[in-house]
Amino acid sequence: MNIVLLGYMGCGKSSIGIDLAAKMNMEYIDLDNYIEKKENKKIPQIFKDKGEIYFRKKETEYLKEIIDSRTNTILSLGGGTPCFSGNMEYIKETELVKSIYLKTSLDELVKRLIVEKEKRPLIAHISSDTELKDFIRKHVFERSFYYNQAAYHISTDKKSIEEIVEEIDKTLF
Ligand code: S3P
Repeated sequence: MNIVLLGYMGCGKSSIGIDLAAKMNMEYIDLDNYIEKKENKKIPQIFKDKGEIYFRKKETEYLKEIIDSRTNTILSLGGGTPCFSGNMEYIKETELVKSIYLKTSLDELVKRLIVEKEKRPLIAHISSDTELKDFIRKHVFERSFYYNQAAYHISTDKKSIEEIVEEIDKTLF
């Protein structure tokens, strides 16, 4: 079985994925890191040199490559992965893939992303905190249509990574 973790930027997909994989004795892959290795470039550089459309094409290609070739892997997606090119449909229709939406409140996302926005090309240019909050609110709302299609929804607010990992374990096994 492969487990796919999805949710907005800053929801904790990577930290949770790493700990979950260790607990379950599964392999761990972060799709953003995988893309960076394959393309030999950091994500912001890919956006800068080749643009978002190229990034989304590669994201879909590598998502499928991973899902089709692995059997015991936790995969953390990028925040936008489920929302493009039929990726969510692909995840849903692939046998033995369980998808989990890590749902985080707007205030928590804003708090985390204010200090981490530089490495995220979609929000790096937003300088005011109020503008960032408005952008994230709207963006999460638009993307929720896709996120909500995940098989399981786990709220991450006021929970430690350990508690979230425990909750996923109980939900899936
Ligand atoms: C993106 C999220 C990023 C990365 C890219 C685009 C998005 O991943 O894939 O910058 O569209 O939300 P994280 O969610 O890991 O930050």
